Amino acid sequence: MMKNSIGKKIILSYFLILIISFALVGTMFYFITLNYIERSVVKQLVMQGREATALINKSFENRKIFKERSFLGMVRGAFLWRKMQISGQDYAILDPWGRVLFTNVKSLEGKRIDLDNFKRIGRRDYYSRKGDKISVVLPLDRGYLMLSGRLTGIKMMTLEILRILLLTFLISGLIVIVIGMFLSRSITAPIKKMAIMASRLKERDFDVAIDINTGDELQELGDTINDLARKLKDYDLAQKRFLQNVSHELKTPLMSIQGYAEGIKDGVFKEDGIEVILNETARMRELVNDIIYLSRLETVNDFNFAETDINEIIRKSVEKFEGAAKLRNIEIEMKLDGPGQIRGDEEKLLQAVANLLSNAVKYARTKICVSKEVKDSRVIIEVADDGEGLDTEELDKVFERFYKGKDGDTGIGLSIVKTIVEKHGGKVSAYNRKNKGAVFRIEIPQNFHT
Ligand SMILES: Nc1ncnc2c1ncn2[C@@H]1O[C@H](COP(=O)(O)OP(=O)(O)OP(=O)(O)O)[C@@H](O)[C@H]1O
Ligand SMILES: [Mg+2]
Repeated sequence: MMKNSIGKKIILSYFLILIISFALVGTMFYFITLNYIERSVVKQLVMQGREATALINKSFENRKIFKERSFLGMVRGAFLWRKMQISGQDYAILDPWGRVLFTNVKSLEGKRIDLDNFKRIGRRDYYSRKGDKISVVLPLDRGYLMLSGRLTGIKMMTLEILRILLLTFLISGLIVIVIGMFLSRSITAPIKKMAIMASRLKERDFDVAIDINTGDELQELGDTINDLARKLKDYDLAQKRFLQNVSHELKTPLMSIQGYAEGIKDGVFKEDGIEVILNETARMRELVNDIIYLSRLETVNDFNFAETDINEIIRKSVEKFEGAAKLRNIEIEMKLDGPGQIRGDEEKLLQAVANLLSNAVKYARTKICVSKEVKDSRVIIEVADDGEGLDTEELDKVFERFYKGKDGDTGIGLSIVKTIVEKHGGKVSAYNRKNKGAVFRIEIPQNFHT
């Protein structure tokens, strides 16, 4: 009937709970009722006994009337006198030592009742229960009166309890099945949806989304899977674009190399052709190195975080570009404010600043300004030049891989900067200066912990 095992498990566990609670309630109910019946029988016996003992005691006082000296005779007289009062009940009159003097129960005749086997109720009354037989013993002036009764209707009561329990059990069982089926469906339906989605993701079909509105952990899971699908799609797209870009970037120098090589073969180019080929291969090697570096940054976690000095790092990068700047008559100004203490990968940070400087040296006309300050435990580095600056629509794009503007090279430099900075928990941005020129800004927390 049930297809899925989650549903079976739910219903089974419901039934288990149901059975346990019914067993508990049933036993409790049984004992509580039994106790109630027992107590009411005892109460009735004691009430009857009180009346009888009062009458018997009275006749003890009037024993002279009976002119019998012996205790036995007194009791007999008294008892005979009020015999009718306790008729219909099993009774026995005991002497002070528990010996049976009178009784209407054959089996008790001549016996001795041991009151130690009785439970005390009240100050001087006793009672005992054997099976469904209840006996109470009440004191007389001398001796005791014992009355016995039966717990009637216990079997009936048990049957009745069982009947009620069974009926409610059946009804609750039906409810449990309905609720269990409903519940299991509400759990399995979203799980099935997610399974279908997962298998589609496996087939690289990322244009899927599931809609789960259970408002619980399943919905959370569904949202996460949707998120995952979106991320995978972005990643897939980025990878495709990356491959396209790489092939495109490699194709241009390759075609140029091929052209010149064929030209040399046909005798069209000589030495100058070889020069171009060498230049192109060098450019290709640089490009491949850059691509490898960038993909390593993103995939391999080979960042070595340590305490280092960002002032020192900036000084070193500027030093590297001083020669190239001088050649183009460009002045590099440095403004390093605040302490240089930072947690980061020295070599990678140096690479990031160097990439910014490499662009600046290329695009500046006369001057580059490198500044650094510390604000709210964040190090802010800006590299500004006085070149043409960036087009407004370029501002967001320059950090993309392979994006290059006019006179661009490979378009990887800034994406390396972005990756390095983001691995340090920071962010990059670009804007234009009021006068002229581009400003590239890096913001990194001083104490970033991975
Ligand atoms: N200081 C700058 N002034 C104006 N444009 C800039 C500046 N820096 C970068 N750009 C623009 O951003 C583009 C991307 O820069 P990026 O450094 O990523 O690549 P690239 O310099 O072209 O090549 P490489 O990978 O060799 O650095 C450049 O092609 C250029 O158009
Ligand atoms: Mg560059």
